[in-house]
Amino acid sequence: MRHVSFVFGAKDLHTCHAQVFPIARNRDEPPPPPTHCGVHFDAYARRMASARSTCAMRVTSPRRVGRVGGTKRVTRFIRVVRASSSSPTKNVPAPTTKKTSSSTRTPKTLGWGERRGAIFPDDPLLLDERTFGYCVYSHADWSYAYKSVALCKTDGDDVDHDLEQCAVEGTIPAVLNGGVLYRNGPALFTRGGVEYKHMLDGDGMVLRFAFGVGNDVAFTSRFVRTDEFTEESFVDATARRGPFGTPKPGGFSGNAFDLRQKNLANTNILAWGGKIYALYEAGRPVELDPVSLACLGETDLGGKLRCGMFVSAGLPVSVESKLGVGGNAFTAHPHIDPHRNKAVGWSWSSLVAEQAVEVTFFEWEKDWSETHKPTTHKLANCEAAPHDFAVTKMRYVLIQNRLKVDPGPYVLGLKGAGECLVSQPELPVVVHVVPRPGALPEKETTETDDEKRRTEPEPEPAVSVDGPSRSFEIHVAFAHDGRPIYGQVGVGNTDTPNDSEDPDGSIKFDTKKNHDSDSNWVTAYTAGWDELGAGSFLGEWSRSEPWPFPIATPLSPDFNNIPRTLLWRYEVNLNTKEVIRTVTPGCENLCIDHPHVNPLFEGKRQCRFVYASLSNEMKTSGPPLGYCRVDLVTGDVAKWWAGNKTFCEELVIVPKSGRWVGGDLDEAMGNALGGNNTDDAYADEKEEECWLVGMLAEHGSGEKEGGVSCLAIFDGADLARGPVAKIKLKHRVPHGLHGAFVPGMRK
Ligand SMILES: [Fe+2]
Repeated sequence: MRHVSFVFGAKDLHTCHAQVFPIARNRDEPPPPPTHCGVHFDAYARRMASARSTCAMRVTSPRRVGRVGGTKRVTRFIRVVRASSSSPTKNVPAPTTKKTSSSTRTPKTLGWGERRGAIFPDDPLLLDERTFGYCVYSHADWSYAYKSVALCKTDGDDVDHDLEQCAVEGTIPAVLNGGVLYRNGPALFTRGGVEYKHMLDGDGMVLRFAFGVGNDVAFTSRFVRTDEFTEESFVDATARRGPFGTPKPGGFSGNAFDLRQKNLANTNILAWGGKIYALYEAGRPVELDPVSLACLGETDLGGKLRCGMFVSAGLPVSVESKLGVGGNAFTAHPHIDPHRNKAVGWSWSSLVAEQAVEVTFFEWEKDWSETHKPTTHKLANCEAAPHDFAVTKMRYVLIQNRLKVDPGPYVLGLKGAGECLVSQPELPVVVHVVPRPGALPEKETTETDDEKRRTEPEPEPAVSVDGPSRSFEIHVAFAHDGRPIYGQVGVGNTDTPNDSEDPDGSIKFDTKKNHDSDSNWVTAYTAGWDELGAGSFLGEWSRSEPWPFPIATPLSPDFNNIPRTLLWRYEVNLNTKEVIRTVTPGCENLCIDHPHVNPLFEGKRQCRFVYASLSNEMKTSGPPLGYCRVDLVTGDVAKWWAGNKTFCEELVIVPKSGRWVGGDLDEAMGNALGGNNTDDAYADEKEEECWLVGMLAEHGSGEKEGGVSCLAIFDGADLARGPVAKIKLKHRVPHGLHGAFVPGMRK
C-alpha cells in the first residue's frame, strides 16, 4: 500500500529555528549582535541547515520572483535571501550541572546568551522583566507541560478530578455566568509504567469550567473514555499503536502489519446544537455528556462518516467495509459561521488510486439539520489532510501542505504513522478555494432585482492554486472574500482603495465599494512556517535531552528543534491564480500561534483584530509566554507578557454582548437570529469588546513544584492590562490544545 494518509498532529506546538538572527526590538534598544547561542541541532535541524546551506530566508517585502506553471499561474511572493558567513551548526553542549553566571552571559540576545531553555529554573534572570519577549525560559519549567496526569483507581474504575470549587482572584465578567468553557488536550503519556514515545500520542482529557453566579466556578476534568482508552485501562498497557511511534507491547511481531490507530480524541471541542464532541483529526468525533463529560461513544454525525480506516481503494463500499477501510475522519477544526449561523466542518478520506485526499464539507443548522447538500472536493497529490481551514461568506478555504507518506516503516511496525510523514519543501503549498452551496459570486451590476433573478449567475468553480514552496500552514485565524479592506499598511495590496480615516484615527469602512471591486480575491490569515526543511520532522520533536538540570519528562518538545510560527496573510486571485503571501504587517518579529478572531466577525472582511498566543519578539521558536492582539488596520500589536515562568495556552474569545452564534444565549437575551443571518445581524457589535479566556501554567517561586494551572480572563479591548480575573486550580494540568465556550451550558 503505497499511498496512505495520516494525521498531521504537531500543529499545536510553537516552533523553532536552528539558526538565529538578532532582530531589532520595538523597544528603544539597538539590535543585539548575531549569535548562535550554542543551539542544539538534532538530525532534523542539520537537514534544515544543509538544505539552506549558509543562507537564511527572511520574509520582508513582496516581490515578483517567478512564474509557476506558465504565464497564467503567477505565484508572487516575497523572499529576500540573506547570506550568512558562519556555519549554522554548533556542537551539542554536553550535559553539565554548572550554572552560567549572569555576568558572563551575552545580554539581551536570544535566550539571553544561552541555548534556549537552558537556564536553571531558579535563576533570578527569569524574573527580570527586561528579558520578557526575548525567549528566555527554563526547559525545567516547560517540561511539566507534558507530565502525565496520574490515573487513580477507586472501586476498580479510573477517577479524574471531579467538581473542584475554584478560588478566584478578581471579578469574573457577568456574561460568563451560566456558561461553560471546555478545553481538550493530551494528558496521559504512560501506560503500564511505560512512557509513550511522543507527547502527541497522549490520550485526550477534557477540562470543564462551569461558571455560576459571580465568582462561583466549578472545575471538572475527565479523560475521553473511548473504546481504546477503556481497553488500555483494563489491560494496563497500550493496545493500539500511537500515531507518533508509541508501540504496542511485543516488539516487531506485536506491531507489524497492525495498522489500526487509536482515536486519541485529544485535540478540540465542537459545541453545537446542545452537543459536545471531542475531536481528533484522524478519527471520528467522540460525543461527551455536556455536564458529566462521560463518554457517549464515537459518532458518525448522522450517517456522514463511514466507519473504518480513512483510506479508500475505490472498491465497492460493502467490500471496503469488510476490509475495515473506506472510512472517514473528521477535521479537528470545524468553524462556526456567523454569516449563516451554521457549524461548518469536513470529513476526509485518502484515495489510494488517485493519490488524493477527498474532503466533504457539511453545514449544520442549530438543530443539526442541513439545508444544502454536502460539497465534495479533491486535493490532488495530497497524502495528509490539512489541519485547519476557513469559511467565508461565499467560500471554503483550505491550504494544503506538501507532505508525503513513507509507509514502509509504519506497515512493518517500526514507526508510527506520523513519523512516516515526509516533508516536500521544494513543492508549493496549494490553496483550495471551494464555493459554498447557495453562495453566488457578487458581481457589480446595474440589473434590477427582477433581472438578477432571471439571469442568476452560475456558481463559480472550485479553484486550486499554487502558493509558495518551503511553507507550512497550521492554524487559520480567519479568511474573507475580497482583498484586505485596508490599503494603508503592509505590502501587496497597494492597489486596494484606502478607506477614509477620521481625525480621531478611526477607520471608516466602505465595504460595498471594496467588495464589488475585487470579488475575485480571497484573503486568509494563518499561522505557519516559512522554513520547512526536507525530510521527516514531526517525530524528531519528541525528545528533549540532555539538559543541565532535571526535567519532568523527556517527552517535552525542545524548541531548539522546532520551526518557528509566524502570522501570514494570503491573498489569492481566483482568476489569475496569483498568490501573495506576506507576514501580517506588524508581526514581522513575532512568534505566534493559535490565532483567533471575535467569533461574531469570523469570515468578515471588516474583521480587524487577531488574537494569538505569543512566544517572543525574536522571530524564533519558543514556548508561549504571553498573548497579543494584532490590529490589521494599523499594524499595531498589543502585548501582554505572562513572565518567563508562566506558559500560555490558546485563547477562547467570548463577545461581551453575550451574543453567540448558535448558542442558547442569543435566545435567552432576546437576540434570536434564526437561521439566515446576514452581515447585518451583528452590525451593532464592537469587535474589540470581547473577553479572552486562556489557561496559564504558573511556575513562580510561590507555586508548587511542577507549577499550578489557572484560567485567566482578559479584556480584548485592553489586553496589556493583564487578567481581570484568575480562576485557580490546585494542580497543574498538561498543556492543552483547543476548546470552546458555550453560554447557558451549566446545569
Ligand atoms: Fe490545532
